[in-house]
Amino acid sequence: MHLDKLVEYDQYTCAEILQEANLSDLWNCFLNGQADLFFSHEAEFFASENSWITAQNILELGSGNGAYLYRLSEVFKDKEYLGIEKQSLLVIQSDAQYSRTGLSFTEGDAEQENEQLNNKFDGVLFRLTLQHLKNPRLALQLAHQYLKQDGYVFIIDSYDPAYSSSHEIPSIEEASRQHNERNKANLKGNRLITIEILEDLQNENSLLSNLYEVARTSLDVQGNRLEKGMRFESEQDRKRYFNHAMLFLGILSNGYDVSVDFSKAYEELQVYLKDEKSWVCLGMHFLVLKKKGGCP
Ligand SMILES: C[S@@+](CC[C@H](N)C(=O)[O-])C[C@H]1O[C@@H](n2cnc3c(N)ncnc32)[C@H](O)[C@@H]1O
Repeated sequence: MHLDKLVEYDQYTCAEILQEANLSDLWNCFLNGQADLFFSHEAEFFASENSWITAQNILELGSGNGAYLYRLSEVFKDKEYLGIEKQSLLVIQSDAQYSRTGLSFTEGDAEQENEQLNNKFDGVLFRLTLQHLKNPRLALQLAHQYLKQDGYVFIIDSYDPAYSSSHEIPSIEEASRQHNERNKANLKGNRLITIEILEDLQNENSLLSNLYEVARTSLDVQGNRLEKGMRFESEQDRKRYFNHAMLFLGILSNGYDVSVDFSKAYEELQVYLKDEKSWVCLGMHFLVLKKKGGCP
């Protein structure tokens, strides 16, 4: 049974596969699929960003299974990449699959100071990680220490209210709503964090506004789009999004105790999949922050 080919199974088999899968396999497959699905859009963003093009040393905080950093290192070959990840199993997987000259992984915590990293990096990347942190502002404070004088933080994260689509997919909306509410109640994670950071940066008395200025943002402080969003509409992207969405529901059900009706989700996603005019535009936020205190 292939977790990366859920689209090829009928709804009952698909539900069974997801219910029986273990969480670590679900995460691994989800992160690989997500790297494939989002990558071309995100690579365009990086390629258009001079601060990224000129950066030599990149640190990713929360590097997951390493698939994403590997993809970046394949396209932007002239840089040295270090991924830091809290879950040791994911570090082992990253090392086994992707480590090579110029790309390494180590276990660590984005919310714990690591003095060895101070002043070493031109860029610190948080991709879909700030939203999971208990204290994202502390992680940004530490990233400021890890950056060289003229360094930048690159953030790619979810901002759910900016999501739009041609078809409603209520199962996903409902599962995300339950998950977000639980996270809020447990003070664990926040999928609106990037807009809160923009708000902080507008307040000159905030800690973050002493550390960073906004160099680029794809959403304004009200969450309106300033740049085109990440839109999935080709047949290949619709299939990949189908798989991605089913795995997302599998993770919420198996790992976070969210109640999910897989068969209903499958049917809703089939409608999106089969209509060639359909599209999904994710509520993603691309945000680049420049370290303050460098040369003007
Ligand atoms: C959704 S995944 C994203 C992984 C990777 N950045 C990617 O784009 O594929 C978020 C990752 O952040 C890691 N993480 C969560 N809290 C962390 C922390 N305090 N320090 C380091 N990593 C953390 C999680 O274990 C998980 O692997």
